[in-house]
Amino acid sequence: MLNVSNTPEPGTAARLSGWMRNRSWAIAMTVAIVITVGGLVILETARERIAAEYETALEARDVTVQLSTLASQLSRLSAHQSDFLLTKLNASAQGFCATATRIRQNEQQLGRFYRGGKADSVELASFTQIVALIEARIGAGAAALQRAAPQPLDLSACGNASDANPADATLVDNTLSLLRDNEERRAQHALDASRADQRISTLCAAGLSALNIVLFILLFRNLGIQMDRQARVQRRLITQQEELDQLVNERTRQLEALGWHLQAVSENEKTQLARELHDELGAILTASKMDVAWANRKLKDSDPDVSEKLRRALANLDQGIALKRRIIEDMRPTVLANFGLVTALRTLADEAAQRNNWTLESHLPADDIQLDEQTEIALFRVAQESLTNAAKYARASKVSIALRVEDGQVALHIADNGVGIMPADLKRTHTHGLLGMRQRVAAHGGRFDIRRGVPSGTDIHVVMPSVSTATPSVDLSPSAPSRTSL
Ligand SMILES: Nc1ncnc2c1ncn2[C@@H]1O[C@H](COP(=O)(O)OP(=O)(O)OP(=O)(O)O)[C@@H](O)[C@H]1O
Ligand SMILES: [Mg+2]
Repeated sequence: MLNVSNTPEPGTAARLSGWMRNRSWAIAMTVAIVITVGGLVILETARERIAAEYETALEARDVTVQLSTLASQLSRLSAHQSDFLLTKLNASAQGFCATATRIRQNEQQLGRFYRGGKADSVELASFTQIVALIEARIGAGAAALQRAAPQPLDLSACGNASDANPADATLVDNTLSLLRDNEERRAQHALDASRADQRISTLCAAGLSALNIVLFILLFRNLGIQMDRQARVQRRLITQQEELDQLVNERTRQLEALGWHLQAVSENEKTQLARELHDELGAILTASKMDVAWANRKLKDSDPDVSEKLRRALANLDQGIALKRRIIEDMRPTVLANFGLVTALRTLADEAAQRNNWTLESHLPADDIQLDEQTEIALFRVAQESLTNAAKYARASKVSIALRVEDGQVALHIADNGVGIMPADLKRTHTHGLLGMRQRVAAHGGRFDIRRGVPSGTDIHVVMPSVSTATPSVDLSPSAPSRTSL
């Protein structure tokens, strides 16, 4: 049956949640920015509304004041009229006219408001009606003043006198107070609305700030979690690196132990072979030489031809015995076993210098030194291979050898003034001389260094602890060679 469910596969969900986790700080940051910008827009809109509402309230208060002023000016107009009728003083007539002028100015200002579109049609109609009533009232008052005056008055400033019926004062007052009440209500309403808007914008600002604080807390918490995770990964990597280092060290130790073991085995085998050659081949050659010498003595006079052949056989046997000795000496340097390292090195260097026509510069201690047996063998073999290489490749005229012991360390230095070793030679893997020397020295906890000399030739430096530190972790060597087994 086909599964037509729309739910995402676990892989997709995990990927999605991973994506969200990785980008949560970016999401939180974006939301915080959107909220902040949105909040600023809302607050700015609220501020504009509050300002407009204050403006309306102030305007309504102004209009209320002007309407009150108009009411009091109308009272003053009536007072001036009554005063003139009683006293007939010109000043009262002038006061009447001045008040009428101020009333008209006031009407003009109010007219700008009512006709400016801010008042509704009923208010505009009421205002228009009041203006008409006031004009009638001024006209009727001016006519009454003219009639009562003993001589004609100059009332041009009051406008046209009219005999029309004076307006009903109560109607004007009522309409004025109606308009005043309207404006006061409008002012109050605008003030209430602005207070409500202030409360809302304060709440809005507080809410947005709280939301932002929550988002920032989440953001920092998330950052903390990510930093923790990174630190954990880093710790794990460091642990793995340490484990790897340990493994490499362990393997290196095992390889060094193996090298040490192989050298010990090789030295042992060489010793055994040398002994066999000495005991078996030596005995056979010596016995043959004695027999041939006896036969030669017997036949010397009777058969000179055979004697000549025997004499040649004797010479060949001597050569064989000398060759056997050289081979044995190479494999089993008896001089090292019998006379110690310093004498063995001196003999080795002297013989090599003689064979190759080198000038030899030797800096060897005057007396023999006591070193660990394995260290002596290693140093002797290094010197042997270095001098062999110099003879094979250096084309040198001068060779120097130096041995120094100090602070628990022994240093061997062999240098020639030949063509010098090439950098590529140091990396060769198919030859065994350099590699063997390096391994031999490392197996005993020492340092081997070979480089081109300055200005020419090759320099070999070996530094080793005077007591071998080679300690095979497994017992690879059942019988380590003893000094006497060299
Ligand atoms: N004293 C030296 N002067 C110049 N070149 C040298 C010297 N010693 C070594 N070399 C160069 O370094 C190379 C490596 O020497 P190494 O002793 O490892 O090998 P090898 O002597 O050629 O062979 P093996 O020792 O295995 O019989 C040599 O082939 C030679 O080119
Ligand atoms: Mg070599």
